[in-house]
Amino acid sequence: MRLPCGCTTKYMATSFCRRVLASSYFGVLGRRGCNTAAFMPEAAGFEGVSGRAALQEFSVSNSESFWAAVARHRLSWIAPFHTVQDCDLSRGRIKWFEGGKLNVSVNCLDRHVHTCPERVALIWERDEKGSEVKYTYRELLEMTCRLGNLLRRHGVKKGDCVTIYMPTCPLAVASMLACARIGAAHNVVFAGFSADALAERIRDAQSSTVITVNQGVRGGKVTELKKTVDTAVQSCPTVQKVFVAMRTDNPVAMTARDIAMEEEMLKEDVVCEPAAMNSEDVLFLLYTSGSTGKPKGLVHTQAGYLLYAALTHRYVFGYHDGDVFGCVADIGWITGHSYSVYGPLANGGTTVLFESTPIYPDPGRYWDMVERLKISQFYGAPTAIRLLLKYGDQWVNKYDRSSLKTLGTVGEPINTEAWEWYHRVVGEGRCPVVDTWWQTETGGICIAPRPSDPEAEIVPGMAMRPFFGIKPVLMDSEGKVLPSNNTSGALCMAQPWPGMARTIHNNHQRFIETYCQPYPGYFFTGDGANRSAEGYYQITGRLDDVINVSGHRIGTAEIEDVVNQCSSVAESAVIGYSHTIKGEGVYAFVVLKKDVDIKEEDLCRELNNMVSKKIAKYACPDCIQFVKRLPKTRSGKIMRRVLRKVADCDLNSLGDLSTLDDPATVQEIIQGHSELLSKQKK
Ligand code: PRX
Repeated sequence: MRLPCGCTTKYMATSFCRRVLASSYFGVLGRRGCNTAAFMPEAAGFEGVSGRAALQEFSVSNSESFWAAVARHRLSWIAPFHTVQDCDLSRGRIKWFEGGKLNVSVNCLDRHVHTCPERVALIWERDEKGSEVKYTYRELLEMTCRLGNLLRRHGVKKGDCVTIYMPTCPLAVASMLACARIGAAHNVVFAGFSADALAERIRDAQSSTVITVNQGVRGGKVTELKKTVDTAVQSCPTVQKVFVAMRTDNPVAMTARDIAMEEEMLKEDVVCEPAAMNSEDVLFLLYTSGSTGKPKGLVHTQAGYLLYAALTHRYVFGYHDGDVFGCVADIGWITGHSYSVYGPLANGGTTVLFESTPIYPDPGRYWDMVERLKISQFYGAPTAIRLLLKYGDQWVNKYDRSSLKTLGTVGEPINTEAWEWYHRVVGEGRCPVVDTWWQTETGGICIAPRPSDPEAEIVPGMAMRPFFGIKPVLMDSEGKVLPSNNTSGALCMAQPWPGMARTIHNNHQRFIETYCQPYPGYFFTGDGANRSAEGYYQITGRLDDVINVSGHRIGTAEIEDVVNQCSSVAESAVIGYSHTIKGEGVYAFVVLKKDVDIKEEDLCRELNNMVSKKIAKYACPDCIQFVKRLPKTRSGKIMRRVLRKVADCDLNSLGDLSTLDDPATVQEIIQGHSELLSKQKK
């Protein structure tokens, strides 16, 4: 007999299963009676806290008691923590659960294997439709242990950092968990990044070990990941070993440094002693873009990150045992880390690893997968929703979506049309849509419609309510907290939470300057937000020079650095502009050197190739406009505000141009823009 938690009766007598069954039973009571402890078993000891609103309030005002109780309940500890938190946001000091020792892979695997070994942990939705592969918790633990032993045998030690350059697949998850098992940090680099971008991240992380695959397969196209690694490591003297897994049957050239991963794993034992890690030891680095040309390696640590990913996964999406969680993000981004891997696995859930694209082999791919895998929670990006909306309802309606309970979005604001379509067509008007706001820096979801009350009102296109323990504030331009509703300002967090990033690898000063100094005592997110009359948050977008292309973050300075390396270019200004599918597109205004005699089309091609080679394809400009000069203030600063308005065809509100050195530049640029538009229309 199969139980609701996915186990067979054989394993029923275990304490874990009893807890699962008990909590789902109480879940029903909780809905009826609004009993706090029933809704959130962790809250059982909070005297006098009755109801979900009170619990939310308690989690913020009694943050230490809240997080201590949750940490004890949710995580398995080797040694208990003695100090819940030791944080000083003004100095960038963030420490949680000190004294505690644990192993993240044990929390994600062993404890579920002990109770429900045959429960499915991963469903790998391979690029080739209909060829999904399932891995039980037992199988994933075995794979992780073999790999952990292999890495250890090849000299990877506690404290080392392993770079993982792989598509979304079970071996990538096992690689992350194997690092966690032996105490090494991982640095997953999105497999769409170029050799140069990969090399920069390997060097900054000082990795001596890289894990990759022979080739990637996505949308039916093969990418040469091993060759990209070969090119990258030429400029990475630290790299000693490259582990190569086989995603396709095509052999690749191997050097003395390369190790055939699967073959070698077979020789290893299926038991691997887990390292006892301190709560604040590094779990992973993840590089993301900031407002300078250099990406920053945000550092997440063990206990706080895992706890926060698990708790948000459970409560924001209403994940219950037996559900199938479908997050379609790539593991190269934070969403893949927190909601394809760590959150669901810490909760003993079944998680989908999506290797393909929303339109391969056709625009019904997501919904075909929902039907086939019986996905309960689907978590995707607004850009994909906007794209699929254009293909029409028939691609959705073809498939049975009755398994769906919750729909989520992340990465960028979702416009009302896309939200309505997602809700009405995909969710048949019966699944709540949760627009979740968070960042690489926050580790997990911070603002989302229903963290505490599964029946609370949801307003389309709004992230709405803070998660447990999260205290958002809006700041005015003078750095003062805006106390009332119906207002907008810079979004900051007034108190620390366990999931937040601890530092920037090798550059704590940059961490302090970026996040802690702009509003002393607060964590600055870099985003702007509105707070409605009802107190709900709506994110308006970045306040810095970071743009969000199809939900992928990129600093305009990074693109400018590449464009400016072209021998024909004198200078450039890159900005984001509204794009109907991507949310934001990349617009480059480029000034050529004198006497450059190359056709504009050829130059555009060259610039695109350069960006693709140095960064990634997604960062390539959608529009390149050659201009004689850029609009600059008398002090020489480029007036980007004006460029954004021109690119968005918003010429009625160009604002004050009196500080421009020569206001005539603006007219030239407007003229050039309209010529470009009419050329594109033809
Ligand atoms: O601008 C916000 C936007 O994405 C940024 C974070 O990007 P990244 O670190 O790559 O993480 C993306 C996935 C968590 C934020 O600063 N963003 C994220 N979610 C939303 C959003 N903007 C509006 N609404 C959201 N729900």
